[in-house]
Amino acid sequence: SKVVLAYSGGLDTSIILKWLVETYDCDVVAFAADLGQGDDLQAIEKKALDTGAVKARVEDLREEFVRDFVFPAFRANVIYEGQYLLGTAIARPLIAKRQVEIALEEGAEAVSHGATGKGNDQVRFELTYTALAPHLKVIAPWREWHFKSRQALLEFARKHGIPVPVTPEKPYSCDANLLHISYEGGILEDPWREPDPSMFTMTVDPREAPDEPEILEVDFLRGDPVAVNGQSMTPATLLQTLNRLGGRHGVGRADVVESRFVGMKSRGVYETPGGTILRTAHRAMESITMDREVMFLRDSLIPQYAKLIYNGFWYAPERVALQRLIDASQEFVTGTVRLKLYKGQCTVIGRKSDQSLYDPQLATFEEEDVYRQSDATGFIRLQGLRLRVQHLVRSRARG
Ligand code: ARG
Ligand code: SIN
Repeated sequence: SKVVLAYSGGLDTSIILKWLVETYDCDVVAFAADLGQGDDLQAIEKKALDTGAVKARVEDLREEFVRDFVFPAFRANVIYEGQYLLGTAIARPLIAKRQVEIALEEGAEAVSHGATGKGNDQVRFELTYTALAPHLKVIAPWREWHFKSRQALLEFARKHGIPVPVTPEKPYSCDANLLHISYEGGILEDPWREPDPSMFTMTVDPREAPDEPEILEVDFLRGDPVAVNGQSMTPATLLQTLNRLGGRHGVGRADVVESRFVGMKSRGVYETPGGTILRTAHRAMESITMDREVMFLRDSLIPQYAKLIYNGFWYAPERVALQRLIDASQEFVTGTVRLKLYKGQCTVIGRKSDQSLYDPQLATFEEEDVYRQSDATGFIRLQGLRLRVQHLVRSRARG
């Protein structure tokens, strides 16, 4: 039999690879996606084969990731519990989708992943498998195997010749891609304990950021960023560029406690430099181009949309339906935003658009036709009608 494993090249998924071969006596195809995490992909391929995979498939999915997952979510100004920009959550459906496609191509019966039984990732992987190919068997080693401790896992690795790094493991777990890097677990589990400054990799400490602010411009076309400082870029290159600029100025760090789908609270620290700039810029673009009621409706849907992504329902019909609405809201979100990056802050300092609703050439109309101040009298009177009635009724009842 054949299993396609979502493989990262790290110690844990290497152990899983070996464990699958041993436990199921199966062929393992290792699939690794390049989402911009910065790992050496050739090394991952070699390691997979060395660890016993019959085949390793390493694919560059960076453009697809940003174009078809990050940008659609950012059109919605997505944010979970007011703080988390969903950098891990948005990547899982893409990895799982590609994994399913590979399983079908390879004629595999099963798919497997390295997410634990306590987190969100298992749900995201498996809901995607279910939505796209429910007949595939799912193997979640973390929920099945008998290892009782980290020690037992390392023992297994040594016994099977899986290289265990001599340097001690990082005292927390990370997940990186073009949108963010996350840190959680280990010493971060104490939500009162500040992370060590040396942990951060995508952003400098704001105190060490340049003393000179940096001004940049982002162009939008129908809700998506298409250029930085006038230079057109592909989605992945654009996000990378914003990461570099934001990182240099210490933009986009967040230290949060969030509610996992499985029920527990968890502490996470995130670096999302480009995403933070993008979300700020996008809101500013909308501020001059989007109708008030459309914005109000869309804003009311952000928590729901974020929850769908967080909980792993990217391929659910309600997410697809919501996306249509969000995309429709972006029809006129075109123009340019100017921002200032300085010591961890990203501030909007300008916005312009051919579609701007702000001061729409009032001068070409007779002032009286567009806005008659005397109309406001009746407007306020009717808006206040029910307040007036309440006051009358209540004070009469009080006697
Ligand atoms: N808490 C974040 C989330 O649920 C990040 C998860 C990090 N995942 C990981 N495998 N390290 O989206
Ligand atoms: C894991 O438990 O595998 C990582 C964290 C998460 O999925 O929430």
